[in-house]
Amino acid sequence: MNDIEIINSGKVISRIVTGEWISDILPQLKGYRKVYVIYDKNVSALAGSISEMIEDHYPSVLGGMMGIDASEQKKNLDTVMGICSFLLDNNADRKSLVLGIGGGITTDMTGFAASIYKRGVKFAFVPTTLLAQVDAAIGGKTGVNFHQFKNMLGVIRQPEFTFICPEPLETLPQRDFVSGSAEMLKTFILDNGPQNDRYESACHLLEKIHSTPDGVIKYSTRLLPFIISAAAVKAGVVSRDQFENGERRILNLGHTFAHAIEHLSAEEETGQGIAHGEAVAMGIVLAAKLSAALGIANSHLPERLARDFKRVGLPCECPFPLEEMEKAMSVDKKAEGDKIHFILPQSIGHVVVKDLTAKEAIDLTSGGTVICII
Ligand SMILES: NC(=O)c1ccc[n+]([C@@H]2O[C@H](COP(=O)([O-])OP(=O)(O)OC[C@H]3O[C@@H](n4cnc5c(N)ncnc54)[C@H](O)[C@@H]3O)[C@@H](O)[C@H]2O)c1
Repeated sequence: MNDIEIINSGKVISRIVTGEWISDILPQLKGYRKVYVIYDKNVSALAGSISEMIEDHYPSVLGGMMGIDASEQKKNLDTVMGICSFLLDNNADRKSLVLGIGGGITTDMTGFAASIYKRGVKFAFVPTTLLAQVDAAIGGKTGVNFHQFKNMLGVIRQPEFTFICPEPLETLPQRDFVSGSAEMLKTFILDNGPQNDRYESACHLLEKIHSTPDGVIKYSTRLLPFIISAAAVKAGVVSRDQFENGERRILNLGHTFAHAIEHLSAEEETGQGIAHGEAVAMGIVLAAKLSAALGIANSHLPERLARDFKRVGLPCECPFPLEEMEKAMSVDKKAEGDKIHFILPQSIGHVVVKDLTAKEAIDLTSGGTVICII
């Protein structure tokens, strides 16, 4: 399969490489002095087999392995400092590659640590969740949570490559798979493909996977092209606007609401709560309600989206009164002054950007005449 390239000023700044099997990653690891593997402890078997392959094919290149706990609570500077200490203790340098294996939490922290260690060393990702394959591991946004706020510290710096393969998804818990479906569907709401049918086809397949035992294993061959399409849409947007000065904002569809939902749902002890993708699904329905209240979307759109999300197993009813979300939305990283760029779906495949205060958005969303059917 051809690589998907992320291009900036005519130069390839990152690549998305796809493979049928995990061993297809090997050619990508050639030529580095050392490879350091940072992995989510929940995918230690996968990380172990990649490390063994490195040792077999490139003797003495494996610089070390470090397992981390992938939780929102531990997505913080302490963990990143731990990764930096590991890299320092094992003599990582500018000719090394830091390979992050895991979901979005792992790739965000690995990329951030590699970006600040020695002012930046090379890194690459093997995303092991659907969400990370279609979104988190593409585009170079890396970072950690800070003072209860998601991804408040971070940088934009591109991985050498992101290796996408359906194999790791086979061990993913169902809730995490379904959560990733939200980012895939979000991408197709932004860009429905040349035939204008990607969103509906993806809903159909995700519904089948959701309702079939071992659905991911059974349908992985059919799933891969959708993962690749979603990754390609994101790669295209990032190529045109790496630093989010304009078009890249559309990728935040549903995210202003979602981050507030995640913030409010996070338990103080564990930091766990509503999963990112689940919050994104709720956020997209709220964005559609806001869009309908502004007369941008047809009044049926929020109901349609809610119905589709439910088909694939996503919750889409926000459990918090909207007024409670206003404060959390006001600290959105994307806010400029008191205005936030809201991405509003107009129809499947089309979105518009509208600048509103959190209060305006909440008032309009709750005052809209459209009622979510779920
Ligand atoms: N950088 C970006 O552009 C970007 C975009 C979207 C989301 N994110 C971030 O991504 C994070 C969410 O990512 P995620 O949903 O991938 O979560 P995650 O990394 O927390 O993974 C979800 C859970 O699945 C486990 N897991 C991962 N892969 C597995 C596998 N193959 N088999 C079994 N268990 C596995 C993890 O240990 C974890 O418990 C959030 O922190 C979010 O802020 C970043």
